Amino acid sequence: MTYQTFPVLKNDRILKVARGEKPDKLPIWIMRQAGRYLPEFLEFRKKHSFFEICQTPELACEVTLMPIKRYDFDAAIIFSDILVIPQALGMTVEMRPSVGPVLPEPLTLDNMKNLKKDGAVSKLKYVGDAITLTRHKLDGKVPLFGFSGAPWTLMGYMIEGGGSKTLSKAKKWLYQYPEVSHQLLELLTEVIIGYLVMQIESGAQIVQVFDSSAEYLNNSLYAKFCLPYLKKIATEIKSKLKDKNLEQVPLVLFAKGAHFNLSDQAALGYDVLGIDWTMKPDIVRSTLKDKNITVQGNLDPCALYAPKEELIKLVTDMIKAFGTDRYIVNLGHGIYPDAPTESVQTFIETVHSVKL
Ligand code: CP3
Repeated sequence: MTYQTFPVLKNDRILKVARGEKPDKLPIWIMRQAGRYLPEFLEFRKKHSFFEICQTPELACEVTLMPIKRYDFDAAIIFSDILVIPQALGMTVEMRPSVGPVLPEPLTLDNMKNLKKDGAVSKLKYVGDAITLTRHKLDGKVPLFGFSGAPWTLMGYMIEGGGSKTLSKAKKWLYQYPEVSHQLLELLTEVIIGYLVMQIESGAQIVQVFDSSAEYLNNSLYAKFCLPYLKKIATEIKSKLKDKNLEQVPLVLFAKGAHFNLSDQAALGYDVLGIDWTMKPDIVRSTLKDKNITVQGNLDPCALYAPKEELIKLVTDMIKAFGTDRYIVNLGHGIYPDAPTESVQTFIETVHSVKL
């Protein structure tokens, strides 16, 4: 890969806070900020299919910039999906209107051998190209996030064949076929490491690992089937960046619903932990005291439906409860498609008006 020269970064609040430094203002971005709550995205989707956008760098770039043009967010996140990894491994992934992702031929013990790990990262080069282009087009306005699904969350979608209320098919593997599960998780881990390093080489300035299905596991399953792989991801990314003489970038872990092991998460090598909307800020802070880690979160995405004055109070109370030290403001999960766009504006203004 050729060495890239990118525009100088003008707003580094998020990167500073991730590293434990003091920003001029509290930083904010929101999960799924480039998505269906934006009228301009819905218009765009009439002309282009979901994966066409993901796979065409110019289109992915345009969508990534939509929330940045409209709002004063402190970061952009590359438009893509966590399910591009199963796709690159050879599985079919469809995005069905009002259903969500569907994998018509889910993973079985028999077809697992067909997963094509070799070359999977190269197949995802389009994400790297989208990142490089977007980093230029951002012109240093805000930093650009890359991301990946975590091994367990990807395993869940691959076995269930889409979203699930219980993840019982994927969990069955953990209990019935632990060895095969470990093989699959190891394979995914290796692809995720290569994929995130490729994103960073392409220009991602911070990366987030989404373990959105953590909430379906308990402490012992998470300790056995997730923590070792999440740790390997953080460790290997750092050592690969070092070997390649590339600058380290902050790593963010969002293990949604994994309230049972927050202190274990803090020992994995990530710089920032995402906190979901069910967690109480003071408990989060006391659990993570002395852990030298930044927290990110955790407004209930549904709080955006509250009247303006109430929303301002909820945001202000949340910030008071977390305190302004090592804190990146975000929702406690992705924004919903029918969230009012004015509420997003109120959310951002409230956060940026806090005196530090
Ligand atoms: O955050 C961003 O703005 C960047 C883009 C992004 C998308 N998906 C675009 C998307 C990101 C970071 C994701 C991550 C993702 N994808 C996760 C982890 C985050 C989370 O919410 O827990 C998960 C679990 C998925 C899988 C996925 N993709 C689901 C369950 C769905 C359907 C439900 C939904 O939220 O829309 C998708 C589709 C999807 N991914 C859309 C977008 C904008 C909507 C599809 C459309 O345009 O029709």
